[in-house]
Amino acid sequence: MEVVIVADAAAQGELVASAVADLIARKPEALFGVATGSTPLPVYQALAAKVAAGQVDVGRLKVCQLDEYVGLPAGHPESYREVLKREVLAPLGIGDSAFLGPDGGAEDLPGACAAYEQQLADAGGVDLQLLGIGTDGHIGFNEPVSSLASRTRIKTLTERTRVDNARFFNGLDEVPRHVITQGIGTILQARHLVLLATGAGKAEAVAATVEGPVSSMVPASALQLHPHATVVVDEAAAQQLKLSDYYKATFASKPAWQGI
Ligand code: PGA
Repeated sequence: MEVVIVADAAAQGELVASAVADLIARKPEALFGVATGSTPLPVYQALAAKVAAGQVDVGRLKVCQLDEYVGLPAGHPESYREVLKREVLAPLGIGDSAFLGPDGGAEDLPGACAAYEQQLADAGGVDLQLLGIGTDGHIGFNEPVSSLASRTRIKTLTERTRVDNARFFNGLDEVPRHVITQGIGTILQARHLVLLATGAGKAEAVAATVEGPVSSMVPASALQLHPHATVVVDEAAAQQLKLSDYYKATFASKPAWQGI
């Protein structure tokens, strides 16, 4: 695993946006897997600035979702489809037809999960998947004890995740209990995984992910099984890493960690 320790969220955003820009330059029709949550927002802002400056052409780029709440009415502003339209598609100038995601409002939810797996496969698979990490170590909405081989499916959120996400709703009662999420097996099929974390609140989960055993109790630790996983963290999120000096010496610059 490549562990890149950066000064702050702005540096993280710049660095990861430039890696996404490099991917788009190499493969203009790439499938870019995006994540919701607060952590990736600086990446989207930095990427939008590159598009606005004419440095990146996203005309053929496709974008796909990692997870979605179940049961929110269509168009609900906190459904992940709407959040991503607001935070990613609109600023980048990408239309809905290039946006893949699971249908959290479907009558047949298992059918919607299977359909999404098929859509991802038909699109040629995810080239670069951005991931946040929950304080409980989840990736996507794969909560602790998720099968490390899981595919896109319905999950029940832990109370901890619902509390963490209540800030986006008018209180905890409004936070959905169920979600559709790409499985860990699905996520591991992306060609490059880039996990982002900032702040001391993520330090324990980051250390368990990078240096702990691979365990379904820390779903993000499955990244250790991936041939090209990059973890980009700020100093606060890195503070429980035992080998941080080694990571700084080894992965300080982008060419070293892009694996190309
Ligand atoms: P955050 O969410 O980026 O808002 O901390 C991450 C996650 O829950 O995966």
